[in-house]
Amino acid sequence: MSKTRTIAIVNQKGGVGKTTTSINLAAALAKQGQTVLLIDLDPQGNATTGLGRQRGATNVTLYDVIVEGEALAGTVVDTDVPGLTLVPSDMDMSGAELAIGNEVGRTIRLKTALADYLETLFEQTGSKPDYVLIDCPPALGLLTVNALSAARSVLVPLQCEFYALEGLSQLLKTIEVAKVSVNPDLVIDGVMLTMYDRRNRLSDNVASDVRKHLGRAVLKTVIPRNVRIAEAPSFGQPVTDYDPTCKGALAYTALAKELLNRHGKNKGER
Ligand SMILES: Nc1ncnc2c1ncn2[C@@H]1O[C@H](COP(=O)(O)OP(=O)(O)O)[C@@H](O)[C@H]1O
Ligand SMILES: [Mg+2]
Repeated sequence: MSKTRTIAIVNQKGGVGKTTTSINLAAALAKQGQTVLLIDLDPQGNATTGLGRQRGATNVTLYDVIVEGEALAGTVVDTDVPGLTLVPSDMDMSGAELAIGNEVGRTIRLKTALADYLETLFEQTGSKPDYVLIDCPPALGLLTVNALSAARSVLVPLQCEFYALEGLSQLLKTIEVAKVSVNPDLVIDGVMLTMYDRRNRLSDNVASDVRKHLGRAVLKTVIPRNVRIAEAPSFGQPVTDYDPTCKGALAYTALAKELLNRHGKNKGER
């Protein structure tokens, strides 16, 4: 029984591809025979609706888990993707940071809830997910810090545009703080280039600039700008189901395989 690997998908900028990567990496990992739980930590709930589910769909919500200490199990729902379960977001999540702002242990609410859930699940079923992915909100607030506390590693999507590296040092500082204060084992799985447009010289310049600056921290797989990726969420599907052979789906499959190799978790396709 291999350990569950929890990955926080983080970047305080909005619109860089966090949610798109959360949904499609989760689905691509599931297609590779992994069991995956996706936690939608963003009050906007785009990962939830992108998988065809609704915010606040459960009696117990993620807000209740983070603020009231309810069990995470009550929030987990199935998706149409075999092997992939989801903790939907809910509208109240935007109030969660304020509600726990002064509480003791406010940075480890999610970590504790997730650990309890995985342990109980293992006791009850004899197995637990291979991966937990956490789709973070576009800010470095308490919710993101909770994700950084709960995670084993961090994946940082960077959009191939001129300001790609802007804000990265602040993000790295936050990761460092999480490491020192609550999570010494936290590592960066990689920085991932996305929305790469091969017809656009700027994309190329940004990609090589980022590689020059960050070296081996940059993953090999680059996600292209692909209209099928942008269309898929309105059908409530990951791109790997919406159009399995499009460039975007192939790229997310390659990303899943690259991470599986890094983590020594290859199993073969589902
Ligand atoms: N590789 C891609 N190709 C085309 N559109 C993309 C791609 N990745 C993301 N998008 C689109 O860009 C927008 C922002 O992406 P999103 O994943 O929601 O970013 P974030 O979660 O970081 O705010 C969305 O409309 C999404 O559909
Ligand atoms: Mg998002």
